Amino acid sequence: MVRDAGGRRLARTAGSVYALPNQGVFMIIVPFNEITEDMYIDYIAEWEKADDKIIPSSSARKGASFAKLLENWENDRTEKAYEMDLVPSTLYFMIDETKRIIGSIHFRHELNAHLLKGGGHIGYGIRPSERRKGMASLMLGMFLEMLRKEGKYKRVLITCDESNKGSAATIERNGGKMENVVRINGVPRRRYWIDL
Ligand SMILES: CC(C)(COP(=O)(O)OP(=O)(O)OC[C@H]1O[C@@H](n2cnc3c(N)ncnc32)[C@H](O)[C@@H]1OP(=O)(O)O)[C@@H](O)C(=O)NCCC(=O)NCCS
Repeated sequence: MVRDAGGRRLARTAGSVYALPNQGVFMIIVPFNEITEDMYIDYIAEWEKADDKIIPSSSARKGASFAKLLENWENDRTEKAYEMDLVPSTLYFMIDETKRIIGSIHFRHELNAHLLKGGGHIGYGIRPSERRKGMASLMLGMFLEMLRKEGKYKRVLITCDESNKGSAATIERNGGKMENVVRINGVPRRRYWIDL
């Protein structure tokens, strides 16, 4: 069951598309290789203009061309990730019916010691102009539904800084149960598990 930030049940239309009843909002989550350069630039330029720390960091362009980013994101989801002391991961984007990217979500396929302590399985962010509209709650809910259907994971770890009220509420709205608070570089971080 997927609910929006107001607790309303979302009608499933097709695939990963969900509708917000009465609002006419339709969203889909797609992997990185299903977006175009124009869609990506429109999205990332807004974060850069806002001078916001880009989260998930893998969605940032860091001076790379779109072709190079696609190559990096492709490598990230393979065993090549281990060569960089990372675990395989996949970057997804949530897009609306006009193909505008609203947010992105980064899924780490497994946990290493570092992710178990503070990083978690999932990182996400919503473009600045679309915040406080229930979009993070919707995106995380849709993504958890995808994982549930896949059936490979029993539970996922999601973390956020103690001060990040929006992220904590997003996780809690989606069933997150806090295990503890740890300090990462001196900053308190909440660790939540979500059963699938
Ligand atoms: C954190 C973030 C993802 C929240 O996205 P969002 O789409 O604005 O969140 P939602 O609209 O779904 O709101 C979810 C809940 O958080 C609350 N919330 C959102 N932003 C908030 C804020 N700045 N302060 C307090 N509460 C906030 C909402 O009221 C809602 O709470 P409710 O369910 O009790 O009503 C977004 O602010 C963002 O992208 N921030 C930068 C990147 C980031 O911090 N990512 C998370 C890293 S752990």
